[in-house]
This record gives sequence, structure tokens and C-alpha cells, in this order.
Amino acid sequence: MNEINLNGFSKEWENIYDQNIHMSIWPWSDVVSLVSKYCNPVEKYNNILEIGCGAGANIPFFINRKNHFYGLDGSEIIINQLKDKFPELRQNLVAGDFTKSIPFDLKFDAVVDRGSLTHNSTASIKECLTVLKNKMSQKSFYFGVDLFSTEHSSFKLGEKVDEFTRKNINTKQFKGVGNVHFFSKDHIYELFEAKSFKILELEHVVKESIQTSTEPYRHCVYNLVAQA
Ligand SMILES: C[S@@+](CC[C@H](N)C(=O)[O-])C[C@H]1O[C@@H](n2cnc3c(N)ncnc32)[C@H](O)[C@@H]1O
Repeated sequence: MNEINLNGFSKEWENIYDQNIHMSIWPWSDVVSLVSKYCNPVEKYNNILEIGCGAGANIPFFINRKNHFYGLDGSEIIINQLKDKFPELRQNLVAGDFTKSIPFDLKFDAVVDRGSLTHNSTASIKECLTVLKNKMSQKSFYFGVDLFSTEHSSFKLGEKVDEFTRKNINTKQFKGVGNVHFFSKDHIYELFEAKSFKILELEHVVKESIQTSTEPYRHCVYNLVAQA
């Protein structure tokens, strides 16, 4: 059996980006709609942090809004690529584990997490929420998009890391990504309320295959808006 990874960043992401996989480049529609709904007027929500910014899919949206964008990702490969792609943001793009520290000397008006926190263990998620809380201004927003749900068909697959986290899930969606955390509604409330976040909006999104040319799936995620 492989060693259980209870640390934050799953190093598998470095291999993924090295192989040009998971290179999403179009802004995620739920990020666009939630940020547009809550972060108004734009000038009041200037400083935006994306934890796990990956290949930078959401960056053009924030540039377009004229926000000050800061991105943190555990993969040096992808951060170096982003620095070439967005040279004006070089100073604001940093490689590091967001469950350990946020290496920017300011407080954020919004934190965007599209599919990133959900690739960490329970212990790391708790650490991350403590770290984040200290870097968020009063009444700022955390946007969690695509937090995997315990109702997802992959929840029982792979190997157990902790009650809510699995790894080595051998499906098209999760192959090679390391830790995958699956949230239940109660688990979300417990985690965020323990760090004094106020939950403003929580939705459960279910996508289920009726007919498919690949493997049948039940793809379930939560979208969350919480206030610091
Ligand atoms: C599914 S990708 C999402 C990328 C981007 N947010 C998007 O919406 O396209 C998840 C990203 O989170 C990063 N990540 C996961 N856990 C991390 C951690 N503890 N510290 C830093 N980055 C992490 C991975 O390296 C990966 O780039």
C-alpha cells in the first residue's frame, strides 16, 4: 500500500501539469455567476485570492473586472507557465501549499476555490480554513465551487485516507490526482462554522448519466458561499 498523504498538496498535480492534463482555460460559469452576484460594486471587492489557481482558467474574468488578482498553487510547473502567460501578474502568482500559509501581505475581499480545497484531507482543510480566515477582510466572501459530495459515485472508490478523503481512485475524472475529499452537507457546516464562517448559500448539484459511451456516473458537487 502507498504511504498515506495527510499533508496538504498532493504532488501528483505536478505530474498532471507536466503532461499537459487538466489544462482548463475557460472561466468556470459558477465562479462567474457567484462572484458577479456577491462582489458588487467591483471596487469594494478589489483583492481576490484564488487558492489552487491551476492553469488560470478564472484569471481572465478577474482581469476583465479590473480586480487585483493573486493566485497560489502547489505546482511550480503551472505557476511558471502562468507567469509567462500573464506577465503583468508575475508578482502575484506564487507556488505554495495553501493549507500551510498564504504568502501575500494583505487581506483579501474574496477567496475563490474552484475544485482545489476538495483535493485535500480533512486535517489539511481545517488548517486551510484557519489560515484563510486570518487573510480575509471583514465580511469578505469564500466561494467554493465544485466541492465533491459524498453522493458522488466515486465516494467509496480507491483507498481511504480519512472518513471523507480517498486517493488512488481509478476513474477518468480522478485518475492520478491524489487526494479527493467528499463533503456532506453537515460536514460543510461543521468545518466552516467551526472557523466562524457564516454560510450564505449552499447548493447541491447532481449530474447523472442516463446513457453514456464511457462509464456510468453520478457526479455530485456542492457550491458554497461563506462570509468571513
Ligand atoms: C482541479 S484543479 C483547479 C484549477 C483551477 N482552480 C480551475 O478552476 O481551473 C485543482 C488545483 O488545486 C491545486 N491544489 C490542490 N491542493 C493544493 C494545496 N494544498 N496547495 C496548493 N495547491 C493545491 C492543484 O495543484 C490544482 O492546480
